[in-house]
Amino acid sequence: MIDVEKALAELTLDEKLRMLEGKDFWHTMDYPAKGIPSIEVADGPYGLRKQKGLCDHLGWNVSEKATAYPSGPSVAATFDRHLVCELGKHLAAEARSQDVDVLLGPAVNMVRTPLCGRNFEYYSEDPCLAGEIAASYVSGVQSQGVGTCIKHFAANNQEVEREFIDAEVSERALREIYLKVFETAVRKSHPWSVMTALNKVNGDYCSENRVLLRDVLRGEWGFDGLAMSDWSGVNNRVKALKSGLDLEMPYSWGISQERLRLAYDAGELSMEDIDAGVRNILNLVNRVLEGRKVHPDYSDVDHNAFSCEIAEKSAVLLKNESSILPLKRNARIAVIGDMAIHPRFKMEGSALVNPSYSAIPLDEIKAISEGEVYFASGYDENSELDDEGLAEAVSLASDSDVVVIFAGLPGGIEAEGKDRKDMMMPASHVRLIHEVSNVNGNVVVVLSNGSPVDTSWDGSVKAVLEMFLGGQMMGRAVARLLFGLATPGGKLPVSFPYRLEQNPSYLNYPGHMGVVTYSEDVFIGYRYYVTKGIDVKYPFGFGLSYTDFEISISEFRSGSAQVSLRVRVRNVGSMNGSETVQIYVAPPTGRIPRPRVELRDFARVYLCPGQECEVSFSLDTDAFSYFDEDLKDWYMAPGEYGVIVATSSRDFVDERKVMLSPKRIKHDEITGWSTIGALRATPAGAAAIERIKDTLSRSLSESARNFPIFRKNGETQDDVDRIPLRMITVLTDNSINNDIMDSIIEDANRVNLEVLG
Ligand code: BGC
Repeated sequence: MIDVEKALAELTLDEKLRMLEGKDFWHTMDYPAKGIPSIEVADGPYGLRKQKGLCDHLGWNVSEKATAYPSGPSVAATFDRHLVCELGKHLAAEARSQDVDVLLGPAVNMVRTPLCGRNFEYYSEDPCLAGEIAASYVSGVQSQGVGTCIKHFAANNQEVEREFIDAEVSERALREIYLKVFETAVRKSHPWSVMTALNKVNGDYCSENRVLLRDVLRGEWGFDGLAMSDWSGVNNRVKALKSGLDLEMPYSWGISQERLRLAYDAGELSMEDIDAGVRNILNLVNRVLEGRKVHPDYSDVDHNAFSCEIAEKSAVLLKNESSILPLKRNARIAVIGDMAIHPRFKMEGSALVNPSYSAIPLDEIKAISEGEVYFASGYDENSELDDEGLAEAVSLASDSDVVVIFAGLPGGIEAEGKDRKDMMMPASHVRLIHEVSNVNGNVVVVLSNGSPVDTSWDGSVKAVLEMFLGGQMMGRAVARLLFGLATPGGKLPVSFPYRLEQNPSYLNYPGHMGVVTYSEDVFIGYRYYVTKGIDVKYPFGFGLSYTDFEISISEFRSGSAQVSLRVRVRNVGSMNGSETVQIYVAPPTGRIPRPRVELRDFARVYLCPGQECEVSFSLDTDAFSYFDEDLKDWYMAPGEYGVIVATSSRDFVDERKVMLSPKRIKHDEITGWSTIGALRATPAGAAAIERIKDTLSRSLSESARNFPIFRKNGETQDDVDRIPLRMITVLTDNSINNDIMDSIIEDANRVNLEVLG
């Protein structure tokens, strides 16, 4: 272990400055003579991308073989904290086996628009789900002595102009949505490092953003790890260091050292600033040295089996008319679509994995089927129309009991550095689906895509199974799901709108003149659709099963600012399966616009036929609060809240109403146009009314002395309370002039937060 303070005393200024950037693409700087080793970092979030030869941050050059696990949306679709923690342990075991100390993941940015090219790395449009999944991932990886680097902090929600776009986001939307996921992971699981986003937030590059890095991350959330830049994501190294960015990655060819040196010589940078960065790097090295002593679980296990398990548990059954799935084993099946033999299961860019294996869907279907299985490509390898392949597919389909079409988004459409243009699948896939459905009424579509797609073709098919980018074992998982060896139970972590135009970011994406304004504010994804009553194709949280469940509230308790409930779930169908109980909160309506419902907790349970279980939830003040920009704090308004037990953001099972009365009451700001009643209701209201009365009673004016404020507790109280303060001046011959009124108002506004005993 390094004695950090001693090392800081011994390192020269130049050594320290050199240490503030990477030694090379994937290592920190070392000083062996001073007992300081370097540590190794590597992508990626869902499978290792360890490069030994030529290095790059976009997946151009080859990396060592590793297990390609399912993508971000898949992982989130499991709604399964335990499973994600296990994923973390498996990833850590692979990282350790290749001497990687810190994994550059999880990638947790919110899915603001379906078009973002990196949605396949991100989890969800909901910060509660994304935050819980991220926290589980971090705990899993770090329990094995390998570090995580949660990224990209913050508001990196598009790839267009990602290097410089300025995300203009209200403080409330930042706190409730875009920062919330980081906050949850930092508070619950303490990631060893965080990676800043390339873009700006509210005018400052994230790597130079003092508010994000110092005030919020370290100051409020207590983050005690290392802050590193995204690759080549530093613009002003001096400002970045002063703002709290410790490590620049990968390196700057000496330019940053030079600038830091000049700033130090000019007195713009202190030794404390420099030491703070180096200290955080040395502390991370110490964590790594401790971590290297841990022998990870799962070093010798079958990673393929686990990758398959996640793919199965993440699959979302969007449609299953006439229970066409699961398929009969002896059915004559036409498997159609090039993706059945060249499956799309990997991400692209820095999250690209060189897979150690690839399960081919067609082979896996054949391995389980007890009937005849035929194949036609339907479209070519590049997803272009192929007339011959299409004709063959149609002819095969017309002669089969059931058709399974593999479709979705081919590689190259969604990628790091590149957003999609629309939500459409390739024309060749859509045409194939239509033409095949014309000749066969039993069509099942298996989708591979990293982000929502337009599914307006689904009226002509019986079933749709969403696999996202399901990792290298996706082919086997699909086959097992199709034949009922596994039951789908994943739930959508993102809404599928009918049309892109419905998406709340539609009018404010990708921005203009380098600025993208998040005008939809906190109304991202289902928060918008549900509040506006906009019907979507497939809602957030939705997913079918091969079995049925009965769900009921078995116990419900509420206090003044807290609710606890127990929910009973029973598998009343005939197959093993799982259900995810989702708890939403519906806030009271008020002046501050709030989403109609917000997910606050969830639990997935796996049950055999006839089996039942109970799950408990407890919601505290946080679950009912919003971020109040006046108070600069979270605030739970008094009023009636709904607590909703649901199986999706649209399918509510039961709702209980509770009156909550918080200890802190926020009063609206008093102005000249506020009423006497509003003034009276403030904490300083009684004193203010007395002052008004006192002034009026001493006035020479008759109208002042007769002003109805003197009629106590009478029937006229309501009428009096409706009078705006400004009118008192007019109605009392200026006995309370504007100056006096302003001073009364100022006093009243001094205490706008009342804390009750
Ligand atoms: C990506 C990061 C990644 C880094 C290193 C960047 O382009 O944005 O997510 O960790 O490269 O490959």
